[in-house]
Amino acid sequence: MIINFLGHLHPVFVHLPIGFLALAYVIQYLFKSNTEKSRLIDFVLVAGILSSLLAAFFGWMLSLSGGYEENLLDWHRYTAIAVCVVSIALLAYKKYKKEEYRTPYYHAGFHLMMLTLLLAGHFGGEMTHGEGYLFSEATDTETGVVVEKQKITTLTAASTVSVYDGIVEPVLAQKCMQCHNQKKKKGDFQLHTLEALMKGGKNGKAIVAGDLDHSEFIRRILLDKGDEKHMPPKGKSQLTQPEIDLLSWWVLHGVSTSQSVKAVSANDTIRKFLSDARKQSAGPAALDSIAPADAASIAALKKINVAVVPLATGTHFLELNMVNAPSFGDKEAPLLQKIAPQVMWLVLADTKITDAGFESLKSCANTTRLNLKNTAITNASIALIGQFKKLEYLNIVGTNIDDAGLLGLTPSATLKKIFCWQSGITTNGVMAFQKKYPNIEIDFGEKK
Ligand code: HEC
Repeated sequence: MIINFLGHLHPVFVHLPIGFLALAYVIQYLFKSNTEKSRLIDFVLVAGILSSLLAAFFGWMLSLSGGYEENLLDWHRYTAIAVCVVSIALLAYKKYKKEEYRTPYYHAGFHLMMLTLLLAGHFGGEMTHGEGYLFSEATDTETGVVVEKQKITTLTAASTVSVYDGIVEPVLAQKCMQCHNQKKKKGDFQLHTLEALMKGGKNGKAIVAGDLDHSEFIRRILLDKGDEKHMPPKGKSQLTQPEIDLLSWWVLHGVSTSQSVKAVSANDTIRKFLSDARKQSAGPAALDSIAPADAASIAALKKINVAVVPLATGTHFLELNMVNAPSFGDKEAPLLQKIAPQVMWLVLADTKITDAGFESLKSCANTTRLNLKNTAITNASIALIGQFKKLEYLNIVGTNIDDAGLLGLTPSATLKKIFCWQSGITTNGVMAFQKKYPNIEIDFGEKK
């Protein structure tokens, strides 16, 4: 709770260091030098440093609540730390040099501070507004996710492509390569090429052909989902059972690179995998099966600071996130009506939405994730939530929904998980619900 609150201060405070440090820069380079100016710069730099430390602290709190694209978060975090370090070093240098501070080092430091400031601001903006989505192109070509997906869906039992090229690599590209690739080496492990995959990571070889128990690569996948060492890490897109079986089969059968799909297509594991892949690609929510969203609605939403982000490159499905639009409420909700079919992830957490406004969101028929955390939503909206027929994740943490509401929910057949701590719901309600729907996981958190 307190972490949440502190995190929310980040967007408020983050503009102060930008203002102060940029002001120091302007004073340094636009005004004639004299002792007054030097003292003014000291003062503004101190203000900039203090506020950047505060903003960094709140930012750290905010990052704990999760939900940000990791790549961008890393960039933002490191450039923001650089701002703090460089500005402190600059002031220290200036004080140390006293009157003779205007050396080339001083100027280089000043420019560097501006540069890190611009970068940190830029990455922060990208992360929350998602406007340019600067790196989505890069990561997609880097890991080939889009291409790889097509590769799998065109596979048939008669394909002569090898199991490695046709199945193993595309699966790894989709589920592992965003963290283990030529640029990112989490755990000092890469798997964008077969050589890298065989070489392993900081704990040594990842694969022992024919031996699942001694293959770290398989061991990590098979670990319990809650285990810290489980791969892919918690919260990331997980491997499906047919994918796990397929990877295990491949390691057990000698890590072949030449065996064709056709040669082994009679095998149960391979057959299941192929039929599952076909099912997934034919699913109603195949990512390319929707028309572009109404541009005017998107513009209107962006104007009130709603982050409108495509779920992947090349798709018209959207994530809508109100993290920067806390005043979003019932009056603004109708803005979503025209783009409702495209809204796949809907994050209304911490907004002013109430049951009245929620009514106008009922046409979001393709929404798979709905986050209503810390809103005034009550049991009155439960029937409506039940109408989100494709819902997979529902977050009603901190709402007024209680046991009667939870038990009144007719969940969609696709619903996997409900997050509901700090609401009116009690352990009794959770237990009764679980009895009715044992396959839906309930995250009740810890009572804080
Ligand atoms: C969101 C990022 C992320 C994704 C996605 C991811 N990993 Fe990892 N992986 C990590 C991190 C971080 C570590 C290092 C920490 C640790 O050892 O748990 C790691 C470590 C590993 C290691 C241990 C390497 C060693 O020698 O210590 C293996 C093996 C591994 N990952 C396999 C996989 C596989 C297979 C997938 C896909 C099914 C995958 N990872 C997906 C982040 C990720």
